[in-house]
Amino acid sequence: MDSFLFVKHRDLTEDLLTSICLIKASAWDYPIEEHKRWILENLKDSDIHVILEVDGNPMAYLNLVRTQVKVNNHGYVDVIGVGNVCCKSKNNGIGSRLMKVVSNYFLANDLKAILFCGQRLLTFYKSFGFMVSAIFEDGKHLLGFNLEDMPFQYEGENF
Ligand SMILES: CC(C)(COP(=O)(O)OP(=O)(O)OC[C@H]1O[C@@H](n2cnc3c(N)ncnc32)[C@H](O)[C@@H]1OP(=O)(O)O)[C@@H](O)C(=O)NCCC(=O)NCCS
Repeated sequence: MDSFLFVKHRDLTEDLLTSICLIKASAWDYPIEEHKRWILENLKDSDIHVILEVDGNPMAYLNLVRTQVKVNNHGYVDVIGVGNVCCKSKNNGIGSRLMKVVSNYFLANDLKAILFCGQRLLTFYKSFGFMVSAIFEDGKHLLGFNLEDMPFQYEGENF
């Protein structure tokens, strides 16, 4: 059975931080301590960790950060940055189940969101309603959710 934990960064326990880093380490091959350092240095108190547990086991993860984009003629607009989407066992539908819950949450609350990804994951993210906004020289794509009629730029920090 799936359960979804939404935990503010300020409420993150050491155990949960370790669980998150174990998920991240199966996606990105860095030592656990390095993943911990990155999270503690880059996330802010009000940012949110989202963990999908399957039958009580932490299996997939992403983080939600508050940020802004610059929209032509509108100035800065609040958006949620979706970062570090990953799961322990790939191609079993787990990442989709996590993204579905999070994108439904955005829809239900009329929230705007952005994320960065490579070309190979475009189909994956488009299936949840994200649309390409920009393509960078290194192949990274900037995607927007609920920002269709608003050409935007992102000038903020990594998430
Ligand atoms: C990206 C990720 C979270 C997707 O989760 P997942 O559980 O593997 O995805 P699902 O099983 O739900 O697959 C959904 C679809 O995306 C496709 N997909 C998933 N990962 C893919 C990849 N790396 N390349 C191409 N397609 C991929 C699947 O083939 C599937 O397509 P289908 O439904 O048409 O068969 C997971 O593969 C992962 O942890 N990747 C490593 C970390 C990473 O690159 N994160 C992205 C940061 S932007």
